[in-house]
Amino acid sequence: MKIEFYKHNLGKDEKRMVLECLDGIFLTTGSYVDSFEREFASYLGEKYCVGLNSCTAALHLALLALGVGPGDEVITTPLTFIATATAILHTGAKPVFIDVEQDTGLMDPKLIDGAVTPKTKAVIPVHLYGQMCDMKRIKAAARKHHLKIIEDAAHCIEGERDGIRPGQLGDAACFSFYATKNMTCGEGGALVTNHRLVAEKVRMLRTHGMTKEAAKRYSGPYKHWDMTDCGWKYNMSNIEASLLLPQIKKIGLNWATRERLYRQYQKALSGIPGVSCPKIAQRSKSALHLLTVWVDHRRRDALLKHFGDQGIGVAVHYRPVHLLKYFRETFHFKKGDFPVSENIGSRTISLPFWPGLTAGQVKHITAQLKAGL
Ligand SMILES: Cc1ncc(COP(=O)(O)O)c(C=O)c1O
Repeated sequence: MKIEFYKHNLGKDEKRMVLECLDGIFLTTGSYVDSFEREFASYLGEKYCVGLNSCTAALHLALLALGVGPGDEVITTPLTFIATATAILHTGAKPVFIDVEQDTGLMDPKLIDGAVTPKTKAVIPVHLYGQMCDMKRIKAAARKHHLKIIEDAAHCIEGERDGIRPGQLGDAACFSFYATKNMTCGEGGALVTNHRLVAEKVRMLRTHGMTKEAAKRYSGPYKHWDMTDCGWKYNMSNIEASLLLPQIKKIGLNWATRERLYRQYQKALSGIPGVSCPKIAQRSKSALHLLTVWVDHRRRDALLKHFGDQGIGVAVHYRPVHLLKYFRETFHFKKGDFPVSENIGSRTISLPFWPGLTAGQVKHITAQLKAGL
C-alpha cells in the first residue's frame, strides 16, 4: 500500500476561484490578495495581514521592519527549519540559539535570560508541529530585555495556548502556505501584526520599496511611482491568493478532520513500546500540523528506510540547524551545544498526516512502525 507523506485536498472551490482569477486581468498582487489579507487577518483576530510569497520572506521582512540589522543578535531555537535562522542571516544579524523543552520540542523560555547580550534585538519562538510556545513567559522575558517578538507560525494557523493565538503577544507572526502546510497554494506566506507601521513597511518592502504596486499603478490613468527603500520581490500573487481564499473558510473543518486522525494515531501508537509523541501542554490547542513520533535514536534511520521500502512517505522535522554544514563551519557549532534539540533531532520521524488519510491507512502506517522498530 503506497501512502504519500502529504496530499493536498484542494478541490472544486479552489479550482473555481483560480479559474475566476485567470479570467481576470491581474495575475499579480491585486484584489484577490486584498481579500485574502482581510479574511486571514480577521480569522486570526489581527488588524493587519500582508500577503507574501513565503514564510521565509515574512520572517525576513518582519525582522527588518522591526529594526533588526547588521551587528544585532536574534534568539531562536535550532529545532526548526533552516528558514528561521537564514531569515536572521539575511538581515545581517546573527542567530543565537537556545535549547528546547524535552517534552514538547518548543523554545524553553527559561533560557532566554542567559542568551541575552547588549546586541540582542529580537526573539523568534517557533510554534513547532502546530503547538504554540509558552508565549506568556516569552513575552515576560522579551519585555524585561526590550526585545521584539517575531513568531514563526509556519506550522500554526489554528493554534491557541492560554487563550492566546499566534500574533497576539508577538510584534508579528509569520505563516507558510508551502506545499505541505495545513493551508497551501504551493508556495506562499503571510505576515500578521497589530502594528500599522510594521504592516506598511513590509507592504512596501515586498515590492522593491516601490510606492505603488502594479494594480494601483495601472487602474485609471498612468501614475508615476517612486522607490523609497531598497526592498525585495516577495509579493503574493492573485493566483496564490485565489487558491487560499476558499481554504480560509475550511480551516475549522480541516482541523477537525486532522484531529480525528490524530486521535486514531494516538490510540494505535499507545500500544507500541519505545514510541512517544511531543506533549501537548494544558490549555493548548495544537494546530496539528505534523504527526511526529520520537523513537530510539539507534533505530531512527533504519525506520526511515523501512518506511521507504514499504512505500510510506515520511520526513524528519528536524535535524537541528546548528549541526548543518553551513552553520558548523560559519559559527563553529559542534555536537553537544544544544543537547535537547540534538536528542530530539536524532529520534524524530514525521508520519503521513493529511485530511484524506483513512483509518485503514493509519492502522497500516502504525503497524509498519511497529514492524520496523
Ligand atoms: C518552522 C518553519 N519555518 C519557516 C518555514 C519557511 O516557510 P516557507 O517555505 O513558506 O518559506 C518553514 C517551512 O517549511 C517551517 O517549517
